[in-house]
Amino acid sequence: MSSPRFDLRGRRTLITGAGSGIGRALALELAARQGVLALVGRRPEPLAETAALVAERGGTAHPITADLAADGEAERVVETSAAALGGLDILVNNAGNVRAGALEDISVADIRAMVQVNLLAPILATRAALPHLRAAADRHGQAAVVGVASIAAQVGLPYYAAYGAVKAGVARFDDAMRRELSGSGVHVVTVYPGPVDTPMMASARPAPGLGRRPVDEVVAEIVAGIEAREAAIVPQLPEGRAMSDLEARDPLAVDASIAPTLGELLAAVSSHRSM
Ligand SMILES: NC(=O)c1ccc[n+]([C@@H]2O[C@H](COP(=O)([O-])OP(=O)(O)OC[C@H]3O[C@@H](n4cnc5c(N)ncnc54)[C@H](OP(=O)(O)O)[C@@H]3O)[C@@H](O)[C@H]2O)c1
Repeated sequence: MSSPRFDLRGRRTLITGAGSGIGRALALELAARQGVLALVGRRPEPLAETAALVAERGGTAHPITADLAADGEAERVVETSAAALGGLDILVNNAGNVRAGALEDISVADIRAMVQVNLLAPILATRAALPHLRAAADRHGQAAVVGVASIAAQVGLPYYAAYGAVKAGVARFDDAMRRELSGSGVHVVTVYPGPVDTPMMASARPAPGLGRRPVDEVVAEIVAGIEAREAAIVPQLPEGRAMSDLEARDPLAVDASIAPTLGELLAAVSSHRSM
């Protein structure tokens, strides 16, 4: 028997990284469904801009300034959001950062920050949110955790080894939690975007063979996937999907296809840093 569709109307949603890119575009989609939103990020100005756009579209926004890499902040953000929203129906673990390049050229501080923001913060925020999400599921059967991983979680992309490691961690965490929460009414879904045209990509040139998609298109697929209670949402162009499929079937064939482009790839991404 298929599960009923997830009804996003009027949901109380915490979105991390809501000041720009995917997080902002998702906030606007939820605002159009009368969402009551907590918007998290380090910089107050972009959060205030998102909040104003949310209000224009019929939603309600509570900006919360926080650095999710800092001890205790993931938990504080969840409790502050639940208090401001009167509970929590959906947690979107979207905030992320990236530093690409040869592993030995990436600083230890940047590697640590990637682990803290992309992996540790989502685990701790989910842990803190669970009592609120379970309460929402008990009340109306509509609660969810949305993880934002990456195509780098499916394909080991050279020069994104540390980023891919933390995103693969997010994906396995989400899958395990969905199974752990089976029967609770709390759904867990992971998004695996290919390259998306957002501020995160401003410092990278397009990688060979992987085109970028407009953020609104990607977010429309994310919304549809949440509503359909998918386990995995894969907003990728056909070339990204083909690479992910080949990785699963024949990783040595992926090695062979990438090897001739390594120099070009390094030149395209060695300045890619969004921290
Ligand atoms: N764009 C892509 O091609 C792509 C592809 C696959 C996956 N993704 C993933 O999609 C998610 C959203 O990225 P995006 O592309 O929309 O990039 P983005 O526009 O740079 O958004 C990332 C957001 O995270 C926030 N953030 C970063 N570090 C933070 C911290 N320490 N504490 C709190 N907030 C923090 C940033 O706001 P502040 O700077 O104000 O904190 C920013 O609003 C990320 O998880 C990313 O890894 C992106």
